[in-house]
Amino acid sequence: MRQREYTINTPKIILGKGEFSNIGKYIQELKSKKVLVIIGKKSMKEFEYLDKLLNYLKDYQIFVFGGISPNPSIEITDKAIQYAREKEIDLIIGLGGGSVLDVSKLVSVLLKNKGVTNDYLYRERKILNKGIPLIAIPTITGSGTEVTKSAVVTDYKNKYKYSISHEYLRPEIAIIDEDFCLTVPKEIAISSKIDIISHSIEGYLCKDNSFSKIMSIQALKSFFLGSFSEASLFGAMSFSNSGTLSPHSFSYILTTHYNIPHGIATIISLPSFIKLWSLHTPKVNILAKSLNLTVDKLIKKINNITKELGIKTRLRDYKIPFEKKKFIASEALKINKQRDPLKIDLQILEKICDEIW
Ligand SMILES: [Fe+2]
Repeated sequence: MRQREYTINTPKIILGKGEFSNIGKYIQELKSKKVLVIIGKKSMKEFEYLDKLLNYLKDYQIFVFGGISPNPSIEITDKAIQYAREKEIDLIIGLGGGSVLDVSKLVSVLLKNKGVTNDYLYRERKILNKGIPLIAIPTITGSGTEVTKSAVVTDYKNKYKYSISHEYLRPEIAIIDEDFCLTVPKEIAISSKIDIISHSIEGYLCKDNSFSKIMSIQALKSFFLGSFSEASLFGAMSFSNSGTLSPHSFSYILTTHYNIPHGIATIISLPSFIKLWSLHTPKVNILAKSLNLTVDKLIKKINNITKELGIKTRLRDYKIPFEKKKFIASEALKINKQRDPLKIDLQILEKICDEIW
């Protein structure tokens, strides 16, 4: 029998309606005293959650660091790290969307490792020590960041979106309160939600990891049934134990250069890549079959979902000139991890640009 090797890692996951109110119980287990809550920018809802959180944690010394916006910069991440170091924080609670949780992960790890964010972006320094505990509480469904081992920050000076990946970046506890997911702004919710489909399909095809495959199928089934919190969790469990592919590399260029929200940026090229992959690996057909679909029907289903959600899927919809295709393709190729079912080259990426322009 062919030998298969893979690891399965996950935080302690608590999923259910109203679980947020039980946070006191989970903090007690961690025996922390000085807690830093990291939140986003001007979201009334997040402030409402924050008030509740402060109320649940009356017995602790609490500090708050706010103002994290989507696609967080190196600078804001370093500010948060510096603040946490000054206050000698011993527990981080990240309360917000994927960006807030990404910053929270880096803060938790850099409190036990030297240097600043930049040192780790270009691998000049290695993460050597486990960070202080992090409780991740997502307020938006989709990114799955609460269970993954990566954190994404943007180097705005060099227009580069960078994902740092390390097992120590995975939160200690993920509290997924399904009530939260009903109350975020529509555009953010849509972008985040549609990312689940890319996570699930890329996670399935990335490596021969049976765990990821099972998670992907379950994620897509849950998504099609409308159970988005579960779908998000399973999708993230899939790709965080295998990886992502070209639609994610491609999306980084569309987000940093043309400001297209992350999830939408991934779904723009996904159907074209599915078609292309299906010509090179039987795995796409097996995945579609597991969902009682054919490859064409799977693509059609994805297209219908994006249409229903009102997502624009052509590059020209975002006022990207056709002549930019060479630039987009060459930039995407730089960050392509070459884990796709076929070897991706410039020509392929330009063809994808043609198709989706
Ligand atoms: Fe994503």
